[in-house]
Amino acid sequence: MRKVTRVSAIIDAKDLTKVYGGKVKAVDHITFHVTEGEIFGFLGPNGAGKTTTIKMLNTLASITDGTATVAGHDVKKDPGAVRKSIGVVPQELTADDELSGTENMMLMAKLHQVNGTTAKTRIANLLRLVDLEEAAGRKVKTFSGGMRRRLQLVMGLLHEPKVLFLDEPTLGLDVQTRSRMWHYIKALNKDRGLTVFMTTHYLDEADSLCDRIAIVDHGAIRVSGSPSELKEAHGGDIVTLTLSNETADLTPFFSGIEGVQGVTREGNTYRIKLPKTERALPAIVAGVVQKGVGISEISFSKPTLDQVFLDVVGRSMRDEEAPESDSAWENIRMERTR
Ligand SMILES: Nc1ncnc2c1ncn2[C@@H]1O[C@H](COP(=O)(O)OP(=O)(O)OP(=O)(O)O)[C@@H](O)[C@H]1O
Ligand SMILES: [Mg+2]
Repeated sequence: MRKVTRVSAIIDAKDLTKVYGGKVKAVDHITFHVTEGEIFGFLGPNGAGKTTTIKMLNTLASITDGTATVAGHDVKKDPGAVRKSIGVVPQELTADDELSGTENMMLMAKLHQVNGTTAKTRIANLLRLVDLEEAAGRKVKTFSGGMRRRLQLVMGLLHEPKVLFLDEPTLGLDVQTRSRMWHYIKALNKDRGLTVFMTTHYLDEADSLCDRIAIVDHGAIRVSGSPSELKEAHGGDIVTLTLSNETADLTPFFSGIEGVQGVTREGNTYRIKLPKTERALPAIVAGVVQKGVGISEISFSKPTLDQVFLDVVGRSMRDEEAPESDSAWENIRMERTR
């Protein structure tokens, strides 16, 4: 029998649950793990329970039910050891506006009992990492939004944590500043082997940064996996094919090709959904040619995480304020509570 070896989980959550004030079930029995060295993305619409999950793992919110370990320490039994192993960059910025960038860093160093030359060297290195060494002498109230986020990022790193929690690290930043943040996060992960647990509303960001993601909604994990696994399972490729001459409806023919998941037709143009274009494209083209029909245009598009999100959550991240009409999800919830 093949032996299954599991790389150690640096975050391990089992049935983690949070009920606020005995009424609001913000997190509902979630179970997941994060492997050491991974960038793990926690995605979901507003109010899904992302920040609450982070707060429980960070020892900042009490756990109503379930268990979690972070860096080998039980969050409930040994919160002090957990706090020493983690860096936290919260959703709300916490840097003091009236202090300079360097003073904020010094304050954090003191808080984590990093002193003397070690503190000075680390502060200088971290400020350089996020290109803030020039601005660091200025009061934070003069910083732009992007500069604040960059400062906040390195404020969580002074004690060299094993795991970094980032709650919406790029919220409200412009495209260039966002991609700069990605660059820093990737570098920290690659060069220092830092495990990153992050939440984000930007699906393109999760796609390019994260090794694995979990999509949460109503406090529960709906799906998890690598971005490509999820796209293959929920998105699929789309081949768009326009024929050069009128023929009989080829929908039944395309539908019959192995691997094809769906076909829609508009005049001479067919949209064919399939998990991987490479697998079925030869059969599609050969079949059309064999029928003596010409192809005037062919293109294919790879799926995006937006499609996955839409498929899983029932609405896109962009129109998350839309009223709930997800009866399938209600059924699942009812089954869970039975
Ligand atoms: N301190 C609190 N007291 C009562 N309810 C709370 C509290 N904090 C959060 N909630 C509720 O718990 C649910 C989950 O909130 P949470 O902040 O974890 O969501 P989120 O996924 O981080 O959302 P966002 O994308 O808006 O940051 C929401 O219904 C929210 O109103
Ligand atoms: Mg949040």
